[in-house]
Amino acid sequence: TTTTRSYHEKVLDHYSSPRNVGSMSKTDTSVGTGLVGAPACGDVMKLQIKVNPDTDTIEDVKFKTFGCGSAIASSSYLTELVRGMTLTDAGKVRNTEIARELCLPPVKLHCSMLAEDAIKSAISNYRTKNPKAAATDLGGT
Ligand code: FES
Ligand code: FES
Repeated sequence: TTTTRSYHEKVLDHYSSPRNVGSMSKTDTSVGTGLVGAPACGDVMKLQIKVNPDTDTIEDVKFKTFGCGSAIASSSYLTELVRGMTLTDAGKVRNTEIARELCLPPVKLHCSMLAEDAIKSAISNYRTKNPKAAATDLGGT
């Protein structure tokens, strides 16, 4: 019995019905924006997170990806994955996890790397805009 869905099925599902496409205001201090590019092909991904400063969790996620189907699918899947996560947990998401879920072939691994880079970049942008939140994160004293 095989329940494994193929690379094409999962990628096509996220590609044809991408989740959480859009953007949020960059000037909102609770929004972190990550903008990254893939050196291998020139594709670009913008990922934004809206963070609840009290719980340090991701309340909303939006993305826009100018790239291949695998990059779009990777970012769409990522938005579903990190919604509700703490920033600490979201920062630990690895592209290999995304690639495994979508069954990306080796030649498409860099597409999922774009998603990992984008979430890290969005988190770091949020922390830069909210230095106090980052400081409490270190545990104080
Ligand atoms: Fe063709 Fe990325 S290289 S879309
Ligand atoms: Fe470059 Fe997919 S081919 S991100």
